[in-house]
Amino acid sequence: MNGRARRGSAESRHLLSDFLRHELGLTGTHVGCEHGVCGACTVLINGEAVRSCLVFAVQCEGAEVTTVEGLAAEDGELHPLQEAFQAAHALQCGFCTPGFLMSLLPFLEERRDSGALTDDEIRDALGGNLCRCTGYQNIVEAVRLAHTKMSGGAGNSAGNSVGTSTGNSAGTCAAEGA
Ligand code: FES
Ligand code: FES
Repeated sequence: MNGRARRGSAESRHLLSDFLRHELGLTGTHVGCEHGVCGACTVLINGEAVRSCLVFAVQCEGAEVTTVEGLAAEDGELHPLQEAFQAAHALQCGFCTPGFLMSLLPFLEERRDSGALTDDEIRDALGGNLCRCTGYQNIVEAVRLAHTKMSGGAGNSAGNSVGTSTGNSAGTCAAEGA
């Protein structure tokens, strides 16, 4: 879990989203619809973006799980993707933000060395996440900025690389907190 071994107990019916929040206290993973629709609960499992409300906790025994709490560096420095969301004003209430960040991370890792992203590519990558506040335009801008940062452009190019997934196959969950 976010680079450290974590143990907890879960009944076979317990969802990963509930296990993260209630057993491990990782409340950065948000729960919206609980039906796999909104993407707020997205985490990385073995580097792949997955909706944690559709996975049983017991299915993740021994897996490498990354939540939004795992994005920032140990010293608190934000991941370039988080910095981009902050700089582009890509959040308002922030409820959807963890899901967006965790969905976008594999996409941006995969496209790290590619040319400029098109609006269609970005919007496609965002397609599995719902936001009730922003109208999405600033999120699109944040993705473009994050891509620049993660590709070695202006800003924090160090990037706290997490996972090497092949993309957002399971939908689409940065701010921490309940
Ligand atoms: S809570 Fe909406 S997809 Fe999981
Ligand atoms: S910022 Fe409020 S739901 Fe997206």
